[in-house]
Amino acid sequence: MTDQRFIHSQWSSRLAFILAASGSAIGLGNIWKFPYLAGDNGGGAFVMIYLLCVAAIGIPIMIAETLLGRCGRRSPINTMRALADEAKASRIWGYVGWLGVVSGFLILSYYSVIAGWSMAYIFKIGGGFLSHASSEVAQQVFLDLKAAPDVQVIWHTAFMAATLFIVSRGVSDGIERATRIMMPGLFVMLILLDGYALSSEGFGQGVSFLFKPDFARLSGESVLTAMGQAFFSLGLGMGSIMMYGSYLPVQVSISRATLAVASADTLVALLAGIAIFPVVFANHLAPTLGPGLIFETLPIAFGQMPAGRLFGTVFFILVFFAALTSAIALIEPTIAFLSENLGFNRTRASVWSGIACWFIGLGTVFSFNAWAEVSWFGKNFFELVDFLTADIMLPLGGILMALFAGWIMERTLTEAELGRNRAYPLWRILVRYVAPVAVAVIFLRAIGVL
Ligand code: PFF
Repeated sequence: MTDQRFIHSQWSSRLAFILAASGSAIGLGNIWKFPYLAGDNGGGAFVMIYLLCVAAIGIPIMIAETLLGRCGRRSPINTMRALADEAKASRIWGYVGWLGVVSGFLILSYYSVIAGWSMAYIFKIGGGFLSHASSEVAQQVFLDLKAAPDVQVIWHTAFMAATLFIVSRGVSDGIERATRIMMPGLFVMLILLDGYALSSEGFGQGVSFLFKPDFARLSGESVLTAMGQAFFSLGLGMGSIMMYGSYLPVQVSISRATLAVASADTLVALLAGIAIFPVVFANHLAPTLGPGLIFETLPIAFGQMPAGRLFGTVFFILVFFAALTSAIALIEPTIAFLSENLGFNRTRASVWSGIACWFIGLGTVFSFNAWAEVSWFGKNFFELVDFLTADIMLPLGGILMALFAGWIMERTLTEAELGRNRAYPLWRILVRYVAPVAVAVIFLRAIGVL
């Protein structure tokens, strides 16, 4: 298998991998979704379960996925095929790679539309259009945006172009350089926003809303929600971490690097909650659920506060950065596949996959207006793509990767990759038994069996 190794590139250092993989993990899932899920599911109790899921399911699968990538050194499809050949297993395992490539591609199609909203908000708040806006006005601004396909298409196009521009420049000059600039920027902005929240009078209330354990509000369903969120937030089961793992130099410890990534992802989710809720409570607003929290409630809050225009703008730049570094990870497996199997150079691969993904994204744009009434299985286009990817393809991909690393690959090979240490037997138990069973539960719930 050595003949084709390093056909793409390699990260220049361990830090480069950590920044890129954290960039993939930290995204809309952390800043928008985690805070409201935590608030809605018993605060601290949910956070505890979430942390447990990250540790027992997320990290073992992340290690497995990175390991598969580093052993295969190709796009997820070719990596899975090559590793299956090596293990004398069926080539059917190649479909696990396909599952990843396709789901990353589909997720990006809608991710780009939502990220486009955040770009629009940088200008809405920065331009002062929401300063001192009443709830009705802020609500109307969001409704107007969702009702306007042309405006959304412009932002969707801009976001997709930015993503593909970075990816087309390659692993070192594109992804590595972009994440090296954007990830520290993201952290600085988040700390700044946390400082701002700390100085607001809603700080205590916001933090207790997020962390105070309220086991009464924690249902069995919340546990499943926490597992699903851990999965999506760490960006697992999609081949992105596998792809990034394939660029990882051999001497870097996989377990330590992935631990750093998972910790950064969790920390950002918590810090985002700490930045958001105090601002909401300081303005006596309700922490409404779903997309409304950052696109409706938060702009009202920032509109009322001193220097709110500045900090509101910073907040949406932060969301944009987080989304962009995730988006490049979502499309990278497709680019690698097109260049490996069809001989495309990166520019050509980026242009074609960008156009195709952009086109599918139009379905999401129309889900909020022209196609709002069109539904399949009770879901509009956006909800359907989200359901298919996050609830079905992703857990399925995750289980299969864990099973492959735990049961199909030679123990000697995985042990050599991870290093013989005390943590190895624990990883093996988690990846062979605990993680697949737990993820199977999420999966069965998603398709309504449980
Ligand atoms: N982890 C990202 C988030 O929390 O928004 C979403 C994501 C990015 C999933 C990249 C998968 C991926 F490969």
